[in-house]
Amino acid sequence: MLIAQISDTHILSEQSQQNTGRLRSENLSRCISDINLQKPDIVIFTGDTVQHGKSEEYAHLKSLIAPLQAPVFIIPGNRDNKTALRTAFKDQPYMHMHNDFLHYAIDEYPLRLIALDSTEEDERKGVFCKARQQWLKKTLSDELDYPTILFIHHPPFDVEDHYTDGYRRADEALALSKIVSRYPQIERLVCGHVHCYFECNWSNTRASTMPSIAVDLRRYVDNIECQQKPAYVLHRRTSSSAFTSKIRVL
Ligand SMILES: [Fe+2]
Repeated sequence: MLIAQISDTHILSEQSQQNTGRLRSENLSRCISDINLQKPDIVIFTGDTVQHGKSEEYAHLKSLIAPLQAPVFIIPGNRDNKTALRTAFKDQPYMHMHNDFLHYAIDEYPLRLIALDSTEEDERKGVFCKARQQWLKKTLSDELDYPTILFIHHPPFDVEDHYTDGYRRADEALALSKIVSRYPQIERLVCGHVHCYFECNWSNTRASTMPSIAVDLRRYVDNIECQQKPAYVLHRRTSSSAFTSKIRVL
């Protein structure tokens, strides 16, 4: 199964006069053209889809991702407005599987997809309240033998000195770690938010973040940032259960 991951596009409205708005749209469109050539089974979009959570930004985003040939599964980031996001994508049933949170489980692929909503209005950090803890435990308990990829906007682990204590409360991050470590069917955790590529072992699984598609928001001095080129990530799980990830720089 081949999965393309895109993240942190921070799209502005089509009417925006800002140069960054045009550049971010171009960055995303270049990624989408290449994703279509790679023919992934699905695309995971790990949040911060637009800059201000406005309906006109979502309208622009929707037109930009329309050429994607594979199904796309979006989770919100702290920049997103869940009501506006759901309204823009009201034709997508997965967006409406849960009333309080924009999270869901998809059981249609060789890998089970579990999307966890880590956002709360007016909160920049990640949130993993009791209700979300219950939902995740129940969802994971339902399918213990189904290989799973979990995706969350906020990484629940530190990314060197650049990103530490990313959750509102330390006990919430600890609760997430404990739950994930108890369910070995989680083969991979993928996140956005930090705008750079990072990989680590975390809570008995392999975890990663990815560079922002918006090159003006890249946060690390690495090869990707220096090149100022759009980049996204391809995750591949083979029939022998090998799980590999690589950045595609365009
Ligand atoms: Fe972001």
